[in-house]
Amino acid sequence: MSETTTAAPARLPFLETERLDNWWSGPIATAAGLILFVVYSTWAAFQGDHYMAGPYLSPFYSPLILGDWWPLSPALLILWAPGGFRVTCYYYRKAYYRSLFLTPPACGVGGKPQRYRGERAILLFQNLHRYFLYPALALVVILWIDAIEAFFFQDGFGMGVGTIVLVLNAFFLMGFTFGCNSLRHLVGGNIDCYSCKTLGNQRYGAWRMVSMFNQHHMVWAWISLFWVGFADLYIRLVSMGIVGDVRFL
Ligand code: FES
Repeated sequence: MSETTTAAPARLPFLETERLDNWWSGPIATAAGLILFVVYSTWAAFQGDHYMAGPYLSPFYSPLILGDWWPLSPALLILWAPGGFRVTCYYYRKAYYRSLFLTPPACGVGGKPQRYRGERAILLFQNLHRYFLYPALALVVILWIDAIEAFFFQDGFGMGVGTIVLVLNAFFLMGFTFGCNSLRHLVGGNIDCYSCKTLGNQRYGAWRMVSMFNQHHMVWAWISLFWVGFADLYIRLVSMGIVGDVRFL
């Protein structure tokens, strides 16, 4: 039997490639989107005001925790949870490893020289994703409560543009969270035979639902990211009197 050996592919020099397509457009757009969101959300979180307008509460400040014991913006008390969930998300890792750290920036393109040592040192943080999932699931419930409360104005039941903004925000956040790989593992992982397990049919149904959301996880990640920033901006502008909220009901 002849012995065959496979040589390791030579490492391409940084940013060199034989690709002829516009491979750089994806990483540049991703980097621009991520930087824009981080800059805006950090600024908005530190403001500590204009986070409420009528029955609308900015998702950056929900659940609202107030008290004299906390001298800073209330957003800083809760943003660690959704922030940690997103930073450790399997999709976002790919997005920022490629677009911000260039390790490598795209398939078939030379990346920044580095020594891969597995998920050790600071990368151990990534393993916390499965734990960030629990506060993220709680946040889905809280944001739906906020969306329902957005129907109750001082003069009674109603609906404005802000109501729709908050309902869509809860829906997009739910789509992103329900497609999480860690959730998929939680509900259906390490099972070889659903019908042999207690609540097997229910777990199979849950696994199928999570798989459905998981299939387009990247799309949910971007829509929910954009919309949560937009929801804060909209409520901020209404609260400042720069934009008037239109009431349909
Ligand atoms: S893998 Fe993206 S939210 Fe869990």
